[in-house]
Amino acid sequence: MNAPTAPDDAKNATDTGSSEPALNSEQATAVAMQDTLLTPRFYTTDFEEMDRIDVTPVRKDWDALIAQMESDPNKNHFRKTDDWDVVDWDGMEPALKKELIDFLISSCTAEFSGCVLYKEMKRRGTNPDIVQLFQLMARDEARHAGFINDALREAGIAVNLGFLTQSKKYTYFRPKFIYYATYLSEKIGYSRYITIFRHLEEHPEKRFHPIFKWFEEWCNDEFGHGEAFALLMKSDPKLTRGHNVLWIKFFLTAVFSTMYVRDHQRPVFHEALGVDPDWYGQEVFKKTSEITKQVFPITLDIDHPRWMKGLKGLRSASLKVANGKQRGGIGGTAERVAGMAQAAFYFVSVYTIPAKKHQVPESTRLQPAY
Ligand SMILES: [Fe+2]
Ligand SMILES: [Fe+2]
Repeated sequence: MNAPTAPDDAKNATDTGSSEPALNSEQATAVAMQDTLLTPRFYTTDFEEMDRIDVTPVRKDWDALIAQMESDPNKNHFRKTDDWDVVDWDGMEPALKKELIDFLISSCTAEFSGCVLYKEMKRRGTNPDIVQLFQLMARDEARHAGFINDALREAGIAVNLGFLTQSKKYTYFRPKFIYYATYLSEKIGYSRYITIFRHLEEHPEKRFHPIFKWFEEWCNDEFGHGEAFALLMKSDPKLTRGHNVLWIKFFLTAVFSTMYVRDHQRPVFHEALGVDPDWYGQEVFKKTSEITKQVFPITLDIDHPRWMKGLKGLRSASLKVANGKQRGGIGGTAERVAGMAQAAFYFVSVYTIPAKKHQVPESTRLQPAY
């Protein structure tokens, strides 16, 4: 899961200069422990309320999805095979190495965040449908996080996942916010992984790490998790009606703009992939918007003139906040406050772009199509 919050508090976790030596495991865990508006968070919720969900209205689709997840098509996928090329960590350009490690730590934390939330729901639940679903999703996320940690281990680093579970701060979201945020995070995760995978299919020379080869099957897991949340929302129609549409718009805006700002913090990484982060952002937003029409009655107008201008404003605001924090003192505080005001201004500016309205289909079910 990604933090579904507005990016007014940027802090590039490892932004300490490109000639720094790579992190050790302790530092990597400290990076994963960080809770800013741009870093992945751990969530907790009202598990009893979630346990009361009744999936009867979507029973047919539900059973089909669970059967597909139980068949576990990716059971053997998250293992290193001969396809796993040797990574020349020592020969890697330091700036790229730093951003790649940052990317892996952040992805590992995000995957593990899903695992922790789903496992807790499974542990506390009594509703057999809910318990079964969350156990299947926790299984997948544990594999995803573990696989990334394996990749990090080759660079001599491991995020201490047990320590994170015990010690990282948990943010409380009421169940409906968990649905919006988690649904979006799963679907945007799918769109991100598949966009990179397709791009590297066309430009294999840009594939500087073997983990990208694993993204295709991987993203199908995320797609399936998103399907489950779509069905959960569909089982209670008021979640996607009335004033809740404003919440949906808020989460869409927050998740998209957070991704934009965060990706721009890794310029060297994206350049090595041959990916322009502006193009990548719009491409991922387009796919995610298309998918979310399955259950959300609105999508954001990402072609509106205020959209890109707003995202750029949020990015520059986040740089000011980070810079101000680093500078400290009165000047630093002033810069930070100015950055936060700028972030609020641009967030409101993108949030108030009129949304596009849609007719939501009777059945939500989709298959990965990109
Ligand atoms: Fe995952
Ligand atoms: Fe997932």
